[in-house]
Amino acid sequence: MSRPRTPRSPRATQKLVIRAFEPSDAEALARMMQQPSVIAGTCRTPLESVATNAARFLADDPLRRSLVATLDERVVGHLALHLHKPGRCRHAASLGMMVDENHQGRGVGSALLDEAIALAERWLHVLRLELEVHVDNTRALRLYGSRGFSIEGVARAHTLRDGMLIDAFRMARLGAALPYPRLTAEEAASRTPPALPRTPQPPRRPKGGTGGGWGTRGGQA
Ligand SMILES: CC(C)(COP(=O)(O)OP(=O)(O)OC[C@H]1O[C@@H](n2cnc3c(N)ncnc32)[C@H](O)[C@@H]1OP(=O)(O)O)[C@@H](O)C(=O)NCCC(=O)NCCS
Repeated sequence: MSRPRTPRSPRATQKLVIRAFEPSDAEALARMMQQPSVIAGTCRTPLESVATNAARFLADDPLRRSLVATLDERVVGHLALHLHKPGRCRHAASLGMMVDENHQGRGVGSALLDEAIALAERWLHVLRLELEVHVDNTRALRLYGSRGFSIEGVARAHTLRDGMLIDAFRMARLGAALPYPRLTAEEAASRTPPALPRTPQPPRRPKGGTGGGWGTRGGQA
């Protein structure tokens, strides 16, 4: 999945590559997590240890796929795709991303997200990509909106940031063709609830009956 790209930057000769995370990337990414704009846009906190964060990147998680962006072989961005556990929501995945603040606004995030969408939808059976984004993160909102994510709701008072509670938009992107019919909220509101499968119950004792029911001695007058 490694693919050279031309960044939208004054230094268009630089080579942007999106590739899989390697253990040697962990420290650079752990340092990036402590940059002020990254802390502001994510749920990180100041004063996190580089060693602890690097260990998080290195921890084995079969449900996480980590992509890294490099610019002339220097690590400048990261995107983590979190697949849901096997089960009824297995077709969904969530994502989080960050770009080195010295390289933001130059197309690195767009390249990372495009690669992640292709990986998720064309290789991993993901039909629904989900994320949360603070309501004032205009750059991220523009990026997600341009890649087909739409706002599904607002999570109120979602994140404490430097003494202020920030709302977050919940956004999602659906794959182009869903292999099953979909019941939308609008349709559900205009029709009677479906009959759900019922758990078999034991027969009830008849009210006021004189015999023949459960626990009675039949034949008594
Ligand atoms: C959000 C983030 C991942 C985006 O990555 P990026 O490399 O900066 O984004 P890009 O350069 O690819 O630009 C994305 C879009 O934002 C637009 N944009 C760039 N700078 C902008 C700015 N200052 N204000 C608003 N939009 C801006 C770009 O034009 C582009 O839109 P387009 O494709 O319609 O042209 C990155 O800025 C970042 O890591 N921020 C801090 C951490 C964070 O917020 N993570 C996301 C948590 S949900």
